[in-house]
Amino acid sequence: MKTTVTTFRDAKQNKEKISMLTAYDYSTAKLIDAAGVNSILVGDSLGMVCLGYPDTLSVTMEDMIHHTKAVSRGAENALVIADMPFMSYQTSVYDAVVNAGRLVKEGGAQAVKLEGGLEVCDQIRAIVNASIPVCAHLGLTPQSVNAFGGYKVQGKEEGPAKKLLEEAKGVEAAGAFAVVFECVPEALAAYISEEISIPVIGIGAGRGCDGQVLVYQDMLGLFSDFTPKFAKVYKELGKEMKEAFASYADEVKNAKFPEEKHTFKMDEGIIEKIKKQ
Ligand code: KIV
Ligand code: NA
Repeated sequence: MKTTVTTFRDAKQNKEKISMLTAYDYSTAKLIDAAGVNSILVGDSLGMVCLGYPDTLSVTMEDMIHHTKAVSRGAENALVIADMPFMSYQTSVYDAVVNAGRLVKEGGAQAVKLEGGLEVCDQIRAIVNASIPVCAHLGLTPQSVNAFGGYKVQGKEEGPAKKLLEEAKGVEAAGAFAVVFECVPEALAAYISEEISIPVIGIGAGRGCDGQVLVYQDMLGLFSDFTPKFAKVYKELGKEMKEAFASYADEVKNAKFPEEKHTFKMDEGIIEKIKKQ
């Protein structure tokens, strides 16, 4: 059955945890969907794990639409949420609505996600008014890496902890159907999850959240630039892929691949005929 924003709301009410993974292409989305994961996020982490940029700031609307289209074609039941890239919603409420609309209309997403709290509540309200569900994103918001001065856990001190609570209540009041908490101390994330009625989806935010999200490369050992503390590696697929690639290179070099069973047959008399012409 298709996961919807209603499923998210019901899950929180029934205290059922929500699973979410990122995907950026058709075949991965199909696997995640078939595995029964509730939601697929086309994250702007795309910029780092797929495109090789050092941060998410270079990701464009065209990048996001291109990959959201691919994921949407592979996701039958999972709710597809597309990230709004840096500068596609910060600039104005108008830009936010137009760009959210493109991710749904052209990309095929069922919802969008944007980073920030009180400063983007006007955008959240306007997008929701256009009938597009919005997921907020608080705590460590990677599009603010230059303002933060690096990637750090957010909300450890009293001031920032109180601010996070206010922002979570703010995005809820603005109409967000869910909120991602990234790199937030477990106790704070658990407390705020109880204080608000929309599901909190955590990444590095501990066990008290209403759901969890991971970048799929992190959980499969496919991104070697670094592995964050919060990521559990379920299978070392990166290692297995590298071994397979090395075997292939070796077998091609030593003429062990292809074997007869990988080849196509024909009437070889035809070759003899050609030779005589
Ligand atoms: O871009 C992304 O993958 C994200 C998740 C880490 C929540 O925003
Ligand atoms: Na993101």
